[in-house]
Amino acid sequence: SQQRRTLIAGNWKMNGGLAANASLLESLQAAPELAASGSTCEVLVCVPVIYLSQCESLLSSSAIAIGAQDVSAHLSGAYTGEISSAMLADFACKYVIVGHSERRAYHHESNELVAQKALQALRSGIFPIVCVGETLEQREAGKTNEVVVTQLRAVMDVLDDGALARIVVAYEPVWAIGTGKTATPEMAQEVHAVLRSVLAERSDFAANRVRILYGGSMKPDNAQELLAMPDIDGGLIGGASLKSADFLSIIKAA
Ligand code: G3P
Repeated sequence: SQQRRTLIAGNWKMNGGLAANASLLESLQAAPELAASGSTCEVLVCVPVIYLSQCESLLSSSAIAIGAQDVSAHLSGAYTGEISSAMLADFACKYVIVGHSERRAYHHESNELVAQKALQALRSGIFPIVCVGETLEQREAGKTNEVVVTQLRAVMDVLDDGALARIVVAYEPVWAIGTGKTATPEMAQEVHAVLRSVLAERSDFAANRVRILYGGSMKPDNAQELLAMPDIDGGLIGGASLKSADFLSIIKAA
């Protein structure tokens, strides 16, 4: 929608390396689509945290924003291996993905934990990208709306109205992630509209302002029709964000 600035976010997941990152970012920055002020959409890369510093220096004069893929729910202290939101903020990290389905599945992250992570990010001035999405089994059982609404409500429960307006939501149907299967634009729009109506129960301001991204096998050939839907405000892109040509053509579609 016109009132929300489209956000095209790459989620590199556990991919990349010093050399590969440098060459990917170089081709992105060289592209006319991303030249200084030319782009009307916001572009973001969510990188493995160990490369935040590298990306910060490579992107210092660029319009591309940097994000992380996870954050601790705790402020600081004895949490071996974790990274706090304040640490992310030290590296020009503007966004952080929380509750990606891979973390929910492989690291048993609960809705409540995801909510605490979103809260912690906001406390450091970082915008959380809250991922929600149903499995194939849940969709076939007719539980899609119930699942995504429960996931979103857990986050809404810990945020006041001001904080709520600063989150980004990403609808990522689990069955569409990395599978080459996408939700049709109509299927995705239906869920996005439900999510927005839940936000509206709290405040119209949040509902109008919060961007809801679609994620799950978004590619150059399906991006345009997905992004044309009224409640799809951008994309969270995995595989296609690792290839500069694909990522750029999605940015173009936006
Ligand atoms: O977070 C993005 C994601 O899970 C989608 O991945 O590879 O299907 O675009 P992919």
